Amino acid sequence: MSKDAKDYSKYFDFSDAKLLSEDENGKRIRIRGREINILSEPDHRQEKQRGKEDVQVLYDTMVSEEFMTLGKDKHYLVYTFGCQMNEHDSETIKGLLEQMGYTPTEDRKLADIILLNTCAIRENAEDKVFGELGHLKHLKVEKPDMLLGVCGCMAQEEGVVRRILQKHGFIDLIFGTHNLHRLPHLIQEALFSKEMVVEVWSKEGDIVENLPKKREGLRGWVNIMYGCDKFCTYCIVPYTRGKERSRRPDDVIAEVRELARQGFKEITLLGQNVNAYGKDFTDIQFSFGDLMDEIRKIDIPRVRFTTSHPRDFDDRLIEVLAKKGNLVEHIHLPVQSGSSQVLKKMSRKYSREVYLELVGKIKKAIPDAVLTTDIIVGFPGETDEQFEETLSLVREVGFDFAYTFIYSPREGTPAAIMEDNVPMDVKKKRLQTLNDAIVEHSRKSNDRMMGAVVEVLVEGVSKNKDHMLSGRTRSNKLVHFEGTPELVGSFVHVRITDPMTWYIKGEMIPEPVVTSDAV
Ligand code: 5AD
Ligand code: SF4
Repeated sequence: MSKDAKDYSKYFDFSDAKLLSEDENGKRIRIRGREINILSEPDHRQEKQRGKEDVQVLYDTMVSEEFMTLGKDKHYLVYTFGCQMNEHDSETIKGLLEQMGYTPTEDRKLADIILLNTCAIRENAEDKVFGELGHLKHLKVEKPDMLLGVCGCMAQEEGVVRRILQKHGFIDLIFGTHNLHRLPHLIQEALFSKEMVVEVWSKEGDIVENLPKKREGLRGWVNIMYGCDKFCTYCIVPYTRGKERSRRPDDVIAEVRELARQGFKEITLLGQNVNAYGKDFTDIQFSFGDLMDEIRKIDIPRVRFTTSHPRDFDDRLIEVLAKKGNLVEHIHLPVQSGSSQVLKKMSRKYSREVYLELVGKIKKAIPDAVLTTDIIVGFPGETDEQFEETLSLVREVGFDFAYTFIYSPREGTPAAIMEDNVPMDVKKKRLQTLNDAIVEHSRKSNDRMMGAVVEVLVEGVSKNKDHMLSGRTRSNKLVHFEGTPELVGSFVHVRITDPMTWYIKGEMIPEPVVTSDAV
């Protein structure tokens, strides 16, 4: 079979499809009467590569004038699935759409363009997107001129694109995580050609600066790095998000300063592995700890970060976090498993002992640090004893919260072809047992806060009772208390009166209380 035929067969049955044309700009095919313009397509083989070439930092990325009126008198709607990285990408997508003249709407019937920014981390995340597409198909039939697009992590997967081309020909646009800045071009192409436009880059990734972002609320996200080179054996992220690449310190610091100037009360630094920040710089030595030490000096009340990898959590970072100030006492430190054998099979590159040692160091330097984590149960071949080790680690560390998951095989990852002899009902039972253990600790930890006075950033008014406000402590605990709506956006002090499991109730203290105790 020729190389071209191989590529060509990747997406569809020959009986269904016809190649219309092909040149250096891509290929045009027809499947069941639908013409599809594939400018570029996902390629797992390429996504796995980690080359040595320099990351390009693109600064000149303004939306050009020719696209500025494409969205005039039109509405957009973006649905976001998955993690904070995706939420933040959606802010960029919305920023671009608004620069093109589109206006936001929550009403899908009014929308002229609907984009689904998707997540590929587990199968159920993908099922949700395909379910949503099923609903949107009816709308598309009623409103054929509406543009319907799929972007984000699922678009980076060969299998997903194949499935969309074969079964969801009503979609107009597919683009991936590396080419958000191309959105205006792609919309224009889809609008004028009436073909389905597919552009997914499988390159390792550039850094694109200066894109517009539509931020809302009091809390702002700031990307400090992109991608992941860890290749944990269960995880699809290194394939969908490209190689680890850090934004230049000056660009990050300038963005944080600008958010402070705009009055944001809290920022969260984002990256798949924030503490690998700077490891890819070849001209300077500048670590995540160094970056935090600079951001600490910026006048923004709270700084969070997510997510960190135990392997790269170094002493410099702990030393800087212990200086506190605007660096809050909450550390999300995904452990994934408490068994060294499972961690090895997951290729996490640390053992149970090393993780516990790190936790010990953090607790020594920051005694009031609140730790949270991610845990996967039912990894291929996980034994009862290995699961018990996870439970005992959870008890030993005392996490205040954990995101817990049943392992979900991801096509193209090494774990997907490991033998898995653990029945689903056992996995479900383990998940329940684990969640019970976490609830138990979380409740105890909240109970210990009884009577304490905490600093709360007031985020909103309760949906049901407008005299009730809600906000978060520095350690990210949700607090409900009585107060008036004009307090939203300010910091108040609350005495804890009623600790619950997932939130705490309290009463506001009217006098400003000088306290640096962070709970
Ligand atoms: N199955 C289940 N959970 C997964 N995660 C990542 N990949 C998988 C998978 N294939 C979890 C990890 C990670 C979190 C974001 O999602 O715990 O830290
Ligand atoms: Fe996935 Fe592991 Fe990278 Fe986290 S560190 S994004 S779990 S590969």
